[in-house]
Amino acid sequence: MPAAASHALPDILPDPGAPVLLFDSGVGGLTVLAELRALLPQAPVIYAADNAGLPYGDKTEAQIAARVAGLLGRMTERLQPRLVCIACNTASTIALGMVREVLEVPVVGTVPAIKPAAALSRSGSIGLLGTEATIRQAYVDRLEREFASDKRLLRHAAPELVAAAERKLRGEPLGPGAFRRAADGLRAQPGGEAIDTVVLACTHFPLVSQELALAFGPEVRFVDGAAGIARRIAQLTQGQAFQRNHPDYALFTRAENDFAALSPALAEYGLDRLAVF
Ligand code: DGL
Repeated sequence: MPAAASHALPDILPDPGAPVLLFDSGVGGLTVLAELRALLPQAPVIYAADNAGLPYGDKTEAQIAARVAGLLGRMTERLQPRLVCIACNTASTIALGMVREVLEVPVVGTVPAIKPAAALSRSGSIGLLGTEATIRQAYVDRLEREFASDKRLLRHAAPELVAAAERKLRGEPLGPGAFRRAADGLRAQPGGEAIDTVVLACTHFPLVSQELALAFGPEVRFVDGAAGIARRIAQLTQGQAFQRNHPDYALFTRAENDFAALSPALAEYGLDRLAVF
């Protein structure tokens, strides 16, 4: 008697060499890459930076959504990643839904870490630093309603910190001004003097957390979402085989004169080569 035909679709596992694609406007997503390396050192990674579009923070929602969805569509077609991570709060809070509709691979986004910050805060006064575009998003309003309705959440746009993080990774010196202004921008708001926890709602900002700690003082704790994002990627790729067929590399959307200055920092994150998409 013939065996009954099974109509269940077989599990389609990705090619072991298929990379995880980490995407940001610049070097901010490296903070997510560091956590991913710690959790999944064997995972091949392509780090993509849309430096031609940097900064995203001063763009409109329509500009960001069109740019990110278009680029990730083309990159996914060309690079065949097993998973895409939008390692950028600005792009995620605006375009995550749209990107998920366009791509067939799993897409992990970056959510401002309001939930863990609310759990940590003793004073009930929480600061949130992000880009101009991020802090005005309804996505952030929803997180505030859901996780911090009994807290005071104060938001401040700190685009200067994006530029500072970019400079720091190129080995350029940083003055304290931008960090002081970020701290003052939160402290000057009603309830700001009681802030004990600050959400770094831009993936660039943990790159300058030491400078921020000096500006805010020792009583303030910083929270970001990088470790949680890495855990989510590990969860979604559980059971998959990983094989690195070539060294991991960084892909930029525009050639820059200062690539040589950036290479040492990229190498520290295991990105041996820099290419233009
Ligand atoms: N790294 C991006 C974020 O997490 C923002 C940088 C930019 O303005 O492009 O929001």
